[in-house]
Amino acid sequence: MSNQILKGKRGIIFGALDEKSIAWKTALACHAEGAVFTLTNAPIALRMGAINELAAACGNAKVIPADVTSEEDLNKLIQESMEVLGGKLDFVLHSVGMSLNVRKKNAYTDLNYDFMHKTFDISAISFHRLMQLLMKQDAMNEWGSIVGLTYIAAQRVFPDYNEMAEAKSLLESFARSFGYHFGKAKKVRVNTISQSPTKTTAGSGVGGFDAFYNYADKMSPLGNASAEACAEYCVSLFSDYTRMVTMQNLFHDGGFSFTGISADAMELFAQE
Ligand SMILES: NC(=O)c1ccc[n+]([C@@H]2O[C@H](COP(=O)([O-])OP(=O)(O)OC[C@H]3O[C@@H](n4cnc5c(N)ncnc54)[C@H](O)[C@@H]3O)[C@@H](O)[C@H]2O)c1
Repeated sequence: MSNQILKGKRGIIFGALDEKSIAWKTALACHAEGAVFTLTNAPIALRMGAINELAAACGNAKVIPADVTSEEDLNKLIQESMEVLGGKLDFVLHSVGMSLNVRKKNAYTDLNYDFMHKTFDISAISFHRLMQLLMKQDAMNEWGSIVGLTYIAAQRVFPDYNEMAEAKSLLESFARSFGYHFGKAKKVRVNTISQSPTKTTAGSGVGGFDAFYNYADKMSPLGNASAEACAEYCVSLFSDYTRMVTMQNLFHDGGFSFTGISADAMELFAQE
């Protein structure tokens, strides 16, 4: 499916770790739709080397290391991206998340606060930092589009999602508030996509992932949204067809968020 709806658009894509990553699929979809972009990830993630394969499949996209907690890295990334791509940017995908407490399997009621600060810094504050630097460098074209990825645990309790729930609430709030300021100042739109559970490195790191992947699948009339489908949704949000959509948290979850109970779930609980 390619209609070249991103032809002539320039962007930055954060977070392609391996071929399962939502950012990886989004890069392929953006390339197929005619966009040019740079790829970025934390220096430590780039050491795995897989991203070079993606870069080659995306017309030899330039790979630029940047830790999202470093203003210096982000400033360089934005500057270099504009130089390499030949002008200001039309889209940015923030597909970044990490929780040290989840990694260390710390219970929600026994969290390490140094880790929590790091989690919020990487997973949420980085979104504000990125937008602030894009604005200061005047790096976005009018009607540009910035997208972050989130999960419904920002609104409802999924116990094993742990402190990432608060990180996602903060991320969504930054999208709304910065979306206002970026819209007013530069006509740039900012949204978050609230994606179904997806089998990626970050996703599978959450305790009980298989159970809530299956639960969400059974509770969604369309089933779970795949990473490929999420990539296509990102393309639509980067395109000119969604120019008036901003400051939204957009559920991309096969209907999960508005389903009270499904026939599949009823069957499971039907036994006396
Ligand atoms: N997989 C799911 O079930 C799911 C569901 C909803 C939302 N999301 C969100 O989608 C986004 C992408 O995750 P994914 O599922 O594709 O997993 P992923 O593990 O492939 O991607 C997460 C990325 O974050 C990067 N990252 C971590 N720390 C960083 C840092 N300091 N600087 C720069 N990059 C850093 C990682 O290197 C990795 O590329 C995340 O925000 C995640 O929370 C995932």
